[in-house]
Amino acid sequence: MGKQPVIIVLLSCCLLAVAAAAAAAAAAPSSAAGHDEEADEGMSTYIVHVMPAHAPLRGARVRLARTHYSSFVRELLPPHIARPAPRLLYSYAHAMTGFAARLTAQQAAHLAAQPSIAAVVRGTVYKLHTTLSSTFLHLSPSSGLQAESNGATDAVIAVLDTGIYPKDRASFAPLPSLPPTPPPTFRGGCVSGPNFDARVYCNNKLVGAKMFYRGYEFAKGPMNETVESKSPLDTDGHGTHCASIAAGSPVPDANLLGFATGVAKGTAPAARIAVRMLHR
Ligand SMILES: *[C@@H]1O[C@H](CO)[C@@H](O)[C@H](O)[C@H]1NC(C)=O
Repeated sequence: MGKQPVIIVLLSCCLLAVAAAAAAAAAAPSSAAGHDEEADEGMSTYIVHVMPAHAPLRGARVRLARTHYSSFVRELLPPHIARPAPRLLYSYAHAMTGFAARLTAQQAAHLAAQPSIAAVVRGTVYKLHTTLSSTFLHLSPSSGLQAESNGATDAVIAVLDTGIYPKDRASFAPLPSLPPTPPPTFRGGCVSGPNFDARVYCNNKLVGAKMFYRGYEFAKGPMNETVESKSPLDTDGHGTHCASIAAGSPVPDANLLGFATGVAKGTAPAARIAVRMLHR
């Protein structure tokens, strides 16, 4: 009974943590994975939410937290289910307290029954659902956060990435429903550079575009301008993609090679965008 409220609060972190642990497991080098598989047989990845009173002191170093949780688990498991030895993958101290580990189903069930543990959640590999994220998050113009935030027209989302490619992109075109100028508290601006004319590309949707390359040149020497540009123009695609996910305007009749036709729009479609191109 007493555990219930904590579980509810922590559940929202689970999705992130599970996804992170699953992604990390998937990214393990194949040679190491092959080697580990034998000792790992019958084990799965679990996220273990530990009651805060049993967590290492806040601010403990990551290595100390891992050592803490390794012995925490060893002490909780009775000898008959102690093997194969659990393997700690990550420890968590910010959005939740606990750790991710490879455990057998028996070990996980035993941990879940301990008063010092709030919840044990088995890791799941999630498929990407990008075209449905807004629906999944119940974001609609008429209800929920989007409506409550009044369209977020007074918010400017800063995108620190590879710049932006706004040419012929309806996601970043001027939007008549938005006020003509950026919110009065916005201190940024648009600068021009090679192949980027701020007077053409910046508008009431794309309110900021700047590039920062001086630190890069100090560290790496003069930039090779045949492959990179000293401009907010995105020659990679990543920054443009992320900016449209964050705040792209609604674009009807969008599709991918003829598939999945529908309205493409950002999570906060009425927010403004300010990009900062940072060099890799
Ligand atoms: C710049 O990059 C191009 C293409 O990779 C290369 O051919 C050229 O030699 C580079 N220039 C300098 C100064 O490194």
